[in-house]
Amino acid sequence: MNTLDYDRYDHVRPLRWTSEALELLDQRALPFVVTTVACRSSDAVAVAIRDLIVRGAPAIGIAAAWGAVLATRDVQAGSGAEAAQALEPALERLNAARPTAVNLAWALARMRAVLGGAGADWRQRLEREARAIEVEDLSANRAMGHLGAGLISPGSGVLTHCNTGSLATSGFGTALGVIRAGVAEGRIQRVFATETRPWNQGARLTVWELQQDGIDATLIADSAAAHLMQTGQVQWVVVGADRICANGDVANKIGTCQLAIVARHCGVKFMVVAPASTVDMATAEGALIEIEERDPAELLSARGERTVAAGVRAWNPVFDVTPHGLIDAIVTENGVLARPDAARMRALADG
Ligand code: MRU
Repeated sequence: MNTLDYDRYDHVRPLRWTSEALELLDQRALPFVVTTVACRSSDAVAVAIRDLIVRGAPAIGIAAAWGAVLATRDVQAGSGAEAAQALEPALERLNAARPTAVNLAWALARMRAVLGGAGADWRQRLEREARAIEVEDLSANRAMGHLGAGLISPGSGVLTHCNTGSLATSGFGTALGVIRAGVAEGRIQRVFATETRPWNQGARLTVWELQQDGIDATLIADSAAAHLMQTGQVQWVVVGADRICANGDVANKIGTCQLAIVARHCGVKFMVVAPASTVDMATAEGALIEIEERDPAELLSARGERTVAAGVRAWNPVFDVTPHGLIDAIVTENGVLARPDAARMRALADG
């Protein structure tokens, strides 16, 4: 397979560094308004991450890396060590923007490590590192796309959840990258995407993104997933991850765990696709992951209009943990891990 064919199916980009600012495609406004927000300070990037202008674990990490570069504008320092000290409060504010996706802390750790070894050229080295984080993500996605698609038999149908595409990464996507590659390679015949309530990443972003690339996809209500799997139209559920623990447990968008349970019940395979930057060997198991809770207003209204009776309370956790026993394969750019567990995760991490 010539992976150049993949370009045909990859046109959307969520972030662009201009040297003056980090331009973000405003994901709150999609699909009807395609507009960008220019972040000119690290705090503006932190707000953009918190408010979901930019979202998806890898894209959050890349945005934070560029946010660290923006933070250098206020700093005069003669060495990397001096700069590291001055930049730390801004890096901590970036890190606090969202708790669950480990890519955020991972990217900032890379930026800190560069400063640690830098001399007077610390500014240039920091900018080079942000660029490297962005470029490496795209090539990891294309590698994962090819590896993951290889698991899917020709003629298959797939179901995906949330948005794990170009919009959530530097391009191509993780789970959606596997779907792009699977379509380009003629393996995938049917693509279904969940709405992904309450923020509707699937309805607003995934099916729009696939439409931009000429990939035919069918939207389903989240609550239609079990019925879809019972009909035999999908052979794989393919999802991304915000954090993969040392035992293979996976935190991802709320609703992922119930898809995994139903998939196992229906004999549908379950694949998690994420770059090595999403693997967190320092967290032993899923129960230890902080699960972000967002404003209940996301559940109580639609398009700014209240849809639920006054006085009703809502609870809005936005991620859940899928136990490793329900996962058939974890795909990273370093390879495919079948039936993940602590020993196999250790072997993958050790290379
Ligand atoms: O709240 P979001 O939209 O940032 O959640 C995104 C997800 O859960 C994705 O599945 C995950 O980050 C992987 S994106 C390649």
